[in-house]
Amino acid sequence: MALLSLLAEDATLLLRWLHVVAAMVWVGSAFALARLDLGMRPRAKDAAPQSLLLHAGSGFRFSRAAEADAAERALNFKWEAYATWASGFALLCLIFGAAPQLTLIDPTLWDAPSWAAVTVAFALLPLAWLAYELLCRKSGLGGDRLLLALYGFSAALGLLLAALFAGRAALLLLGAILATLMTANIAHVIVPAQKRRLATLRAGLPADADDAKGAATRALYNQYLALPVVFFMLSGHAPLVFAGPHNGVAAALFLAAGFAIRRFFLQRARGFGANWGLAAAAAVAIALALWLCTPSEPSPEKAAAQSAGEAIASVLRPEGPAAQAIVERHCVACHAKTPLHPGFFHAAAGLDFSDAARMRRYRGEILRAAVYTRAMPPPGAASPIDADEQRVLLRWARAPD
Ligand code: HEC
Repeated sequence: MALLSLLAEDATLLLRWLHVVAAMVWVGSAFALARLDLGMRPRAKDAAPQSLLLHAGSGFRFSRAAEADAAERALNFKWEAYATWASGFALLCLIFGAAPQLTLIDPTLWDAPSWAAVTVAFALLPLAWLAYELLCRKSGLGGDRLLLALYGFSAALGLLLAALFAGRAALLLLGAILATLMTANIAHVIVPAQKRRLATLRAGLPADADDAKGAATRALYNQYLALPVVFFMLSGHAPLVFAGPHNGVAAALFLAAGFAIRRFFLQRARGFGANWGLAAAAAVAIALALWLCTPSEPSPEKAAAQSAGEAIASVLRPEGPAAQAIVERHCVACHAKTPLHPGFFHAAAGLDFSDAARMRRYRGEILRAAVYTRAMPPPGAASPIDADEQRVLLRWARAPD
């Protein structure tokens, strides 16, 4: 069992490595190509749209091809996209599939048996893709209206996930679903269109304008989705964002900010200059989201006012031992050098709270995870800490050393 768990941990590390590297190359190349493409302009000497790229010590000219040799190799970045998706999917299986109680389930939201939570989480990937395809193909919308509908669809998904699953999993799953849409855009629309275009290039025939436009639209959506996806994948490091009471709305606002930021840069690449209105909209969305994620503290005064006896006790009680008892009861099973919680072989997240000095060192982290938010203990794996306990922890954290 210990060996299995160790192997799973090693596999997770290697998959994360592959996942991040593949995603960097995929998104990096997509952003670079969008800049080269949108920046193409006619020159004085040559009316064909083109852009000049400096790379290493050389200059390269990028322009639209009119024909290709029969055996000429055509480059694209589809394997990077597929590797990103496949490694991400494997990570989801390892993380959610292996321990849904720890990662996915929040009984206060949806008290689901493990199999049901895992089934719904994974079923949402193809279901969301189907709904997205219907939106793109059947809604009759196009251009910016379809983009707006895509935003609404993504934001609604975020709200749904935040209502069903523990915060960390909700935002991660939102990222995974949006990344699935991006990969499906490549696999089902862009790559087939590229294959058709390569055949016409080899035959020296002109492009099918509708086919090219369809692929370009999906490539454009990928540009918009990329920033939110990366944000949601990183959100697990920010308990105030993923585990606050308004995490779904915050996700919708970060999504809007990601769309606005990308639009700002795409418009600039098109030569429209800087649209400060968009930049301001992104800043407002981020400020609003961060404000929503600002913790509202359990008020020590309100608790003390409940009874005079309690008020006196709260002044007299030495908070150190009381706080330590709470952390011992709710946290140390996983956050100790040799944790007792089954399946743990070292301190969870590398955090050991098993004595007073270590607890003090991590008091900021403890507040963020267990007092300001409900990130910890993992809602599906341990009993939650209650408001009185939160107040004790807050008083302990605020007491001078
Ligand atoms: C059932 C096991 C378990 C219990 C109980 C538990 N934790 Fe955790 N904790 C974890 C795991 C697993 C992680 C790593 C999560 C990740 O990175 O995906 C973690 C991560 C953390 C982090 C790092 C920030 C974060 O959210 O990733 C903090 C801080 C933390 N826990 C505090 C606490 C506190 C405080 C308690 C008690 C109130 C507690 N934990 C109880 C398993 C547990």
